Amino acid sequence: MKLFYFFVKYFILTYSIIYSLSSAYSEDEDIIKIGTLLPYSGVYTVLGEEITNAMELAFQEENNEIFGKKIKVIRGDTEVKPNIALQKGRKLISSNKVDILVGPVSSSVALAIRDLVVQTKTPLIIPNAGANILTREKCSKYITRISFSNYQINAPMGKWMAKKGLKSAFLLAPDYAAGKEMMKAFRENFEAEGGVILGEEYTPFRKTKDFGPYLSRVKSSNADAVYVFYAGGEAINFIKQAHSFGLNKTMKITGAGWTTSPLFIPAQKDAAIGFIGSLNYVPSINTNENKIFKDSYLKNFGRVPSEFAVQGYDAGKVIIEAIKSLSGDISKKSKLAEAINNIAVVGPRGPLTIDKSSNNVIQNIYIFEVVKGNTMPTLKILDTIEAVKDPGTGCNL
Ligand code: PHB
Repeated sequence: MKLFYFFVKYFILTYSIIYSLSSAYSEDEDIIKIGTLLPYSGVYTVLGEEITNAMELAFQEENNEIFGKKIKVIRGDTEVKPNIALQKGRKLISSNKVDILVGPVSSSVALAIRDLVVQTKTPLIIPNAGANILTREKCSKYITRISFSNYQINAPMGKWMAKKGLKSAFLLAPDYAAGKEMMKAFRENFEAEGGVILGEEYTPFRKTKDFGPYLSRVKSSNADAVYVFYAGGEAINFIKQAHSFGLNKTMKITGAGWTTSPLFIPAQKDAAIGFIGSLNYVPSINTNENKIFKDSYLKNFGRVPSEFAVQGYDAGKVIIEAIKSLSGDISKKSKLAEAINNIAVVGPRGPLTIDKSSNNVIQNIYIFEVVKGNTMPTLKILDTIEAVKDPGTGCNL
């Protein structure tokens, strides 16, 4: 009798384990898991939040569901640190079993997670990080960049500034992959049009709070312009300090447009006025898609969207359209990656296509000046350079 009870108990236990495992499995089958590898702490926190907000807004517009499958966003905080991002990436892939990864913001973090996503064949949509190599020598069918390459934003400015009669420049950027690549792209194109670089400095990344010593050296170069790249807390500090120092009275302050992103202008205020930069999105783009998006972002988050928001929103849109094109079947990662690369959308920034020879986005670049606005300074478009591509050198897809 004892033996009989033992077998009954054993049977019930085994059955319930199998049942709970299989129902968890089928529940998982009905969920689309999107893992983010974005900064929710550290110098780029606001960028990570802005990208996530806007991506979730795109999902909300679909009632968080595609072909009857619920969309679940699982956040991974990179802290803007390559080793932390790699740990979080491994966890999202092997424990959470995400279908798609969205991230990162920083070029150095992107370089750290590149091999992990390629080896595990996890489709990665980059909503910011610009490291050129990710869509050049280290390109992959599993990596799709819908933001920009560092070259793509800065090369047009080199040509444009020289043509506008600014003959000399001093370069200033944070000392990491993105800062170096942006300055190189600017320099090559500025020099090709006859411009001269009078000096360059790279400030310790995530550590520089006082730009005073750098501003003195920039000023004493007597260049026509300083060309900079900063983002997040560093952009806010740099612009405020350059203004108090009076640098704008002796030379033009120019650079990669994130330096005066609409995300940082509320903190920079009038100190941002006069800055000339380039970006892949400015809020004043006059299209129906942008108007609808801007109104919706304002309603949901109480502020004007930045280029980071648009990159997050477009990442969401690309995910939705790709999964729809597969009628909701995301069981094969290779098919999912192909579907992502085949999507063309018209977003708030204009038409977007993925360059088949690199998987980097082709898009318009807007050259703008920060001017006085009604309540807050705004970005006035000076020129639009259409359908800018990265050369994609060294990519074999
Ligand atoms: C990058 O590290 O690639 C990066 C970070 C912030 C930006 C742009 C590029 O605003």
